[in-house]
Parts: sequence; structure tokens; C-alpha cells
Amino acid sequence: MPSITFVHPDGRAQRIDARDGESAMQAATRHDLGGILAECGGNAMCATCHVYVDEGWLARLPAMGDDEDALLDGAAAERRANSRLSCQIKLAADLDGLVLNLPDRQL
Ligand code: FES
Repeated sequence: MPSITFVHPDGRAQRIDARDGESAMQAATRHDLGGILAECGGNAMCATCHVYVDEGWLARLPAMGDDEDALLDGAAAERRANSRLSCQIKLAADLDGLVLNLPDRQL
């Protein structure tokens, strides 16, 4: 079971236990983390699950698909080189310790 950390814009870090196979978005919403809206329910249609991947982890994630890439251009908060949609990050043991930073807004 991977454990991942979300860092809020105010610097507060929350470490949560995720289930193998669920997305980072699902783990966040299941724990009522706040900061992730996920309006489309994980169907890569809303960009309200935007996160900034901690630099050390970026290269360890699978490459983003075209849909995710296009959606990130419309994210409410600034798109950065480490921007990803958390609904497209599937969790497994190899991502234990993953750190995701939350943007200051999702809308
Ligand atoms: Fe809508 Fe991720 S939850 S794009």
C-alpha cells in the first residue's frame, strides 16, 4: 500500500495511505483532503485535480497522454513543467513516498 504526501499551498503536508491501483485523486478525495475538486470524477475532462509533482518524482511517473496535456493548458492555476492531473496518476508500490503539491486554486 503506497503512502503519498500532499502539500497544501500554505506548506501544510498531509500523508495518506493509498490503495494499490487507485489514482492519486481518488486517494485524496477518499481522505477528504481538500484542494482537489475532481469535478469530472476522474475522466480527464475537468482539470480540477491539478497537482505539481515534487521534482524528484516527475521522471518516475508514466508520460502524460494527449488529453491530459491539453487539459492542463486550461487549468485554473498556472501550468508548470511539473503539472499533472492527479486522476491520471495511478498508484502502486513503486510510488510509495510520492509527494504532490496542491495549487492555490482549482477553479
Ligand atoms: Fe477531472 Fe482529473 S478529475 S480531470
